Amino acid sequence: MALLEGKTLLVTGVLTDGSIAFHVARLAQEQGAQVILTSFGRQLRLTQAIARRLPQPAPVVELDVTNADDLAALADRVREHADRLDGVVHSIGFAPQSVMGGNFLAGEWDDVATAVHVSAYSLKALAVAALPLLSRGSGLVGLTFDARYAWPVYDWMGVAKAAFESTARYLARDLGPQGVRVNLVSAGPIRTTAAKSIPGFETMEGRWSDRAPLGWDVTDPEPTARTVAALLSDWFPATTGEIVHVDGGVHAMGQ
Ligand SMILES: NC(=O)c1ccc[n+]([C@@H]2O[C@H](COP(=O)([O-])OP(=O)(O)OC[C@H]3O[C@@H](n4cnc5c(N)ncnc54)[C@H](O)[C@@H]3O)[C@@H](O)[C@H]2O)c1
Repeated sequence: MALLEGKTLLVTGVLTDGSIAFHVARLAQEQGAQVILTSFGRQLRLTQAIARRLPQPAPVVELDVTNADDLAALADRVREHADRLDGVVHSIGFAPQSVMGGNFLAGEWDDVATAVHVSAYSLKALAVAALPLLSRGSGLVGLTFDARYAWPVYDWMGVAKAAFESTARYLARDLGPQGVRVNLVSAGPIRTTAAKSIPGFETMEGRWSDRAPLGWDVTDPEPTARTVAALLSDWFPATTGEIVHVDGGVHAMGQ
């Protein structure tokens, strides 16, 4: 039996065919899942075009995670395509350029607030919006960049990721009694649109492959996508509040 046979998944964050979420959606379909995508605003048409490049074309429902109307309408919009969800992928991140790039001390609250709203609080917002469709055994999986450390140039996005990781633990606490698992994948640097929008991203990706015992390919989202798929499967039935590192092993090294 395929890993995700019979499951219906909501996958956010497909912007291009380089998006981590695109590869999650592709692998999920290859592993037997039905996939519904989300997108918003001017990106909607782009996501619809990219959705046609998946093994099976996937419907796209509108969701700006910071928009209360979209969140309130999400369950009904998904119900136009499926009567339940077995998993939700949060693959969303955004911070204004002013709060990344190595000028941490100049970060202003309005821009920091945007980063935290879109990149951290949104995990709770998405979980609550999807909850009416989730049943026991389902899983929510998000993507983080190891927030235990201060990285070059990541700055307030790193602070938002720390809030994101904490949000995942509180969600694991509060959704566990309903049988919903909440886990994160902490990925190494991958050259996506979001990554390339970080001023000086090269300084983060530069030494990664040298430091990784397994090596690391910044152009390959497949290992990350595979781990997301595995966490959505029935093979992590008692795991929640966890962060699985998919970084070639960098997180475990002293230098
Ligand atoms: N690329 C990396 O190096 C890397 C490493 C670790 C973790 N991550 C995380 O992976 C996730 C996916 O990013 P990616 O690298 O695939 O880049 P990406 O640019 O392809 O995806 C980011 C997505 O966030 C979506 N988004 C932004 N604001 C939104 C909003 N208000 N409502 C709904 N969606 C919104 C965008 O539409 C886009 O699809 C992010 O959480 C990112 O922080 C990326």
